Amino acid sequence: MSTRPPKAREGASPVGGATPAAAPLGVFDSGLGGLTVVREMRRLLPAERFVYVGDSGRAPYGPRSPEEIRSLSVGQSRFLLDRHGCRGLVIACNTATAAAAETVRAAVSPAPVVAMEPAVKPAAAATRTGTVGVLATVGTLSSARFAALLARHEDGGRVRFLTTSCPGWVEAVEEGRTSGPDAFALVERFVRPLLEQGADTLVLGCTHFPALRPVIADVAGRGVAVLDVGEAVARRASEVFTPLASEGNGGLLLYTTGDPALFACGARAILGLPETPPVRRLVWGPNGTLSED
Ligand code: DGL
Repeated sequence: MSTRPPKAREGASPVGGATPAAAPLGVFDSGLGGLTVVREMRRLLPAERFVYVGDSGRAPYGPRSPEEIRSLSVGQSRFLLDRHGCRGLVIACNTATAAAAETVRAAVSPAPVVAMEPAVKPAAAATRTGTVGVLATVGTLSSARFAALLARHEDGGRVRFLTTSCPGWVEAVEEGRTSGPDAFALVERFVRPLLEQGADTLVLGCTHFPALRPVIADVAGRGVAVLDVGEAVARRASEVFTPLASEGNGGLLLYTTGDPALFACGARAILGLPETPPVRRLVWGPNGTLSED
């Protein structure tokens, strides 16, 4: 299989039919979470055009095996390059980054790939108590990549990292349950123990979690910093993709393998859009490829 991204098919979509120089950026995640990164990228790169795939039909990725996440990540990447001629990718998913960043890079080379890294470094610099809580999926927390990240920032034992997976949070975001008493109780269940152990800094190590930020901040209270890397990843994308960033028209094309209506509601909320955006449905084929329904 060729590793070179073919040109976009002419007239394929609002962002298809582009010249290679103005080709869009592809972004993918297990579902809606990566849109918290897209939100920041659209602020920093307003002229950029994005094609987004959210694999809500298979979310959450967290409990899936690394092999399965690699296969799903490559499937999404190939769709973005082969169908839309994307000139580069942003893996807007910590879990996919942990399991599949190298595999994706190899699969789409020479297209550049920007991936995630939980905000452990700024958290280590910010903590005054020396205790940092890291909230992420089981897949991220159990990865060698994450273990190496923590080891790099323990600062000779000065910083203690408390980690917790947050079962139910990804599902809550996917289903639009991001406020109200139930969301508060769900967040409190995992955040309260971190606070009780002295954490003054919380790292949102899953791209879905910023969608719960108001509730997390409410539970955490003043004096606790809540960090994510959406803005940092947007800055990184603007460095990597700068030469072409002003050539597009700011379009956003959304795909999901889940329920398009539900996805559209979540996308509107996360992106702060005035109206519910159109969302196209994708289906997985038996050979690990994605196609439009
Ligand atoms: N949004 C993803 C992440 O950043 C994955 C969440 C999931 O599907 O488990 O890890």
